Amino acid sequence: MTTQTPVHLSPAWQALQQMAQAHLPTLRELLADTSRSTSLHVNACGIHMDYTHQRVNEQVLNALQALAKERQVELQLHAMFHAQTINSTEQRSVLHVALRGSELSNPPWGQAVSLQVKTQLDKVCDFAEKMRAGTCLGFSNLAITDVVNIGIGGSDLGPRMATQALRTAGQSPVGVHFVSNVDAWSLQQTLQDLNPATSAFVVQSKTFTTQETLTLAASAKRWLTDGGCPNDLLARHLMAVTAKAPLALAQGFDAAHVFELWDWVGGRYSIWSAIGLPLVIAIGAKAFKEMLQGAADMDAHVQSAAPTNNMPLLMALLGIWNRNGLGAESLHIAPYPSCLGMLVPYLQQMDMESNGKSTYKDGSAVKLETSPVVWGGLGIDGQHAYFQMIHQGTHLVPTDFIGVTTETTPLPLAAEHHRVVILNMQAQAQALALGRTEQETEVLLLEQGLSPQEAKQLAPHRSYAGNKPSTTLWLEAITPRSLGALMALYEHKVFYQAAIWDIHAYDQWGVELGKTLAKQMEKPA
Ligand code: F6P
Repeated sequence: MTTQTPVHLSPAWQALQQMAQAHLPTLRELLADTSRSTSLHVNACGIHMDYTHQRVNEQVLNALQALAKERQVELQLHAMFHAQTINSTEQRSVLHVALRGSELSNPPWGQAVSLQVKTQLDKVCDFAEKMRAGTCLGFSNLAITDVVNIGIGGSDLGPRMATQALRTAGQSPVGVHFVSNVDAWSLQQTLQDLNPATSAFVVQSKTFTTQETLTLAASAKRWLTDGGCPNDLLARHLMAVTAKAPLALAQGFDAAHVFELWDWVGGRYSIWSAIGLPLVIAIGAKAFKEMLQGAADMDAHVQSAAPTNNMPLLMALLGIWNRNGLGAESLHIAPYPSCLGMLVPYLQQMDMESNGKSTYKDGSAVKLETSPVVWGGLGIDGQHAYFQMIHQGTHLVPTDFIGVTTETTPLPLAAEHHRVVILNMQAQAQALALGRTEQETEVLLLEQGLSPQEAKQLAPHRSYAGNKPSTTLWLEAITPRSLGALMALYEHKVFYQAAIWDIHAYDQWGVELGKTLAKQMEKPA
């Protein structure tokens, strides 16, 4: 790629800054234009994105697209898919896309990578199916009925989130549990209901050096031996997923129970690899492959869609506008389906560990704001907790709403539940965008029978500034395929933002100092 002007000095960036400082139409004004309701929508891979409630007009959208073009994002995307060493501070390529594209006949990353991926995918799926069929036996020859995932960060959040979201998809015959925190309470809470004779542990660690994970694994082994497992049969109860297989083998794991990933899979992008093992045990190989397909759909979309229809690119550009144009410091994500309860922590790591950086790729200090604080949780719960601050606080907080159009839960009144959920989500997007002026509030209060004086006094407290941007993502239902597409949508959004901000998204040096200090402090003085 040719040397470029630093992004903050580039013509497209400067043009956007000027637009942000000029008088911008409000969302009330923008939404009064009815043509907007047909134009600011895009469909891809079973996801419908409605960005009518973002504070952008045609001029801003064009300028954002010009920025993407100027930063050669398509060339950068091509480099990722073609296995170039884009994670240059670690001298690695970035190929989580290969994990869901192993069926492609002519993969851009090469056949050798696809072959590695297929071999491990088959191993994971075969093993998980055996476990589900009750043919994995513990030390007393009883079938394993419960699996505890031990891992943290990317070795926990992805499989935990997707297991919660999809658990019913495969009707798991095996209980799948997750422990990430190294405090004893956390492990004890899980183990107290389990039987050592019928429990197994998946120790997930890309590096196989993470102190928290190894401490938990040692404690789990002790629980097994205390529970009657002879040392020579421990391996029956232990599985490892790692990019450092020799370390696992040296610790006594059986080679048949060691599943591999590679240095070109970032931890926070690893759910598509063998790190998905607990998920495959929970939902079955077929559903897992459907999830991979959903992500592969989004990979195909991102490589082929016109920029104005490219959903991840649009999400990235709107995020940049909110962050760098309107000055929003955070991004609030509000999924409304309860099965997505772990989505925000998962996206938090994906976004903030990737783009929480303050150096350009050439090592100079950035002159722009990078990753917003990503936060949120289930929308309905949030409405009765922190939405107050978004409506009336002093921060500008853009929101991603995530909802489903159909309800398949087999409860007699499921349709009524769904109606209430959808109404609420849409009402929030509307309230955030339009707000309610003091004048409107006063009229309303008078209609409700308050005296003119009371109405005047109360109106400032009961008014809403509005003009708060949001995007709504609609999925037809939460299925393995749609969830795969949703996760890949956010992955590619993060990619595009890093490409434009000119920062490295795939290293995470910021987490190292604390780890090093913890090790140093452990050494006797
Ligand atoms: O400390 C951060 C981190 O390295 C994450 O990037 C990673 O997902 C997590 O720790 C777990 O790492 P590992 O899988 O190597 O145990």
